Amino acid sequence: MGEGGPFRRLLNYMKPHRRTVRLAAFCSVFNKFWDLAPPLLIGLAVDVVVLREESTLANVGLVDPWHQLVALSVLTFLIWGLESLFEYFYGVLWRNLAQTVQHELRLDTFDHVQQQGMTWFDERQKGDILAILNDDINQLERFLDKGANDLLQVSTTVIVVGAVFLLISWQVALFAVLPIPLIVWGSFRYQRSLEPRYAKVRQAAGQMNALLENDLSGMSTVQSFTAEANELRRVEVLSDAYREANREAIRLSAAFTPLIRMAILVGFTATLLLGGWFTLEGTMAVGAYSVLVFMTQRLLWPLTRLGETFDLYQRAMASSTRVLDVLASPIELQQGEYSPDLETRKTSSIALEDLSFGYPDREPLFNHLSLTFEHGKTTGVVGSTGAGKTSLVRLLLRFAEPQQGHVTWCDQPIETWKLHSLRSSIALVDQHITLFPTTILENIRYGRPAATDEEVIEAAEIAEAAAFVANLPSGWETLVGEGGHRLSGGQRQRVAIARAVLKDAPLLILDEATSAVDNETEAALQRSIERISRGRTTIVIAHRLSTVRNADRIVVLEEGEVMEDGRHDDLVSLGGIYARLWSVQTGEGR
Ligand code: CTP
Ligand code: MG
Repeated sequence: MGEGGPFRRLLNYMKPHRRTVRLAAFCSVFNKFWDLAPPLLIGLAVDVVVLREESTLANVGLVDPWHQLVALSVLTFLIWGLESLFEYFYGVLWRNLAQTVQHELRLDTFDHVQQQGMTWFDERQKGDILAILNDDINQLERFLDKGANDLLQVSTTVIVVGAVFLLISWQVALFAVLPIPLIVWGSFRYQRSLEPRYAKVRQAAGQMNALLENDLSGMSTVQSFTAEANELRRVEVLSDAYREANREAIRLSAAFTPLIRMAILVGFTATLLLGGWFTLEGTMAVGAYSVLVFMTQRLLWPLTRLGETFDLYQRAMASSTRVLDVLASPIELQQGEYSPDLETRKTSSIALEDLSFGYPDREPLFNHLSLTFEHGKTTGVVGSTGAGKTSLVRLLLRFAEPQQGHVTWCDQPIETWKLHSLRSSIALVDQHITLFPTTILENIRYGRPAATDEEVIEAAEIAEAAAFVANLPSGWETLVGEGGHRLSGGQRQRVAIARAVLKDAPLLILDEATSAVDNETEAALQRSIERISRGRTTIVIAHRLSTVRNADRIVVLEEGEVMEDGRHDDLVSLGGIYARLWSVQTGEGR
């Protein structure tokens, strides 16, 4: 996905930092430039001691050899000073740039991920997304940290050394320097074949991460089924796949440095032999010969390191492909601009109009379903498990999109609403409750971050949570643990209800919100909920019919259709599905 190769895409992404990149690149090049000067200084020094009053420096006007040496020393100080200065600046610039880019990239990617619809998440594994947000972005950081500088400096080295060789002797340059661009090009091509291998490595890392994440969050299931050995084997298989993928890459990548060294050896020997021969013949100065020999040395080291740098580059590209693909994945959920005022939202009914919906690759769940949730009223929804009650809620929140028909609210299809307006109008107590690993107080406050402590506690009282919280050793400051697992199921539900109550939204949805509390607590909760749902549009989904008994209206949902619809007493006397369920639950059924 996306346009162009990963490198171009990355550059595009870094456009806002163009100036820093340029400045950093400038410092890298100049640091290298001054770093290559010492061989020239050595050459000049040799020139001084061999030729004395006829040296190169003497030709510039410094006749006395002693003066020449002093001048050289001053020059050396200057050059080393400049080299150090530029080294400091490129270090600071590249490394901070790496930090800025990884920071921004992570935020952008996470922001993008958060905007994705639920179907996007259904298709992916959390662990893999996590690997992208962490490892892959860090890989990029490592490359920017030093890889970019390395590449620039090697290029500078080749150009400067090449120029010096050409100036001193084109014949030697022919053998020693001309092959180098070829070597660099060849090595780049060679390393290119690493790209798909590193893509596999990153993919394997993502898969392993996903499995580890699954195992860790489902540890109690793993242990209760004594499946540890089994899980270990699964991890072993994926970890092995990761190792194998890396091995494939290593096989190629490790051969690189030795190959490069051999290629450079040719140039080095050529310089030694050819240059030496010219010097013996007297056509080349001893100083110039020294420059050439020292310069080839200078080539050797960075070029052998090129392998490492290209390696870093290919890894970074494999990672940035993954990151940028996430960034490029379209946000399918389109939202409108409609944002009705609070009063309108409170006084408008919510209607499903001729709505058809089914999950991908599944039988349709709803076929031309029409159903209205009247404003200010409480509607109970019952139906056997899998009937689609929770799916109905998902459609209201736009966690899922109907294939046909609409949900309308305030006489507008909810697709035309601003997503924020829609979702902030709904307080949901989910069937599967998620609490965040912080205190009870903060978990409830999640419903309305600006709420005062008093308001939070008031909401908790309505949700029948205050009493149990008071009995906890740390009270409101009790940490609930990951997912809220340090609380009982019923306690978790009450915290979630308090959170929804605090949100104080026009539409309140309770999806099996009291399924885990005892009968007595439920009866108490029932009274509170009736109080807060007075004049508020409320949807109560429950299997336990006592929960919906007092609703203004009860809807029986079966096979994607509304089978029965009415008040409790009417439905009981109707003698249909609801009546049957009721008699089973009250024990009158047999
Ligand atoms: N389903 C699905 N993909 C999802 C969620 C649900 O295919 N992401 C399917 C379920 O397998 C089920 C149907 O959709 O067959 C309805 O699910 P749901 O609305 O959750 O059923 P509920 O009526 O809420 O069932 P329960 O009483 O068990 O909560
Ligand atoms: Mg459900």
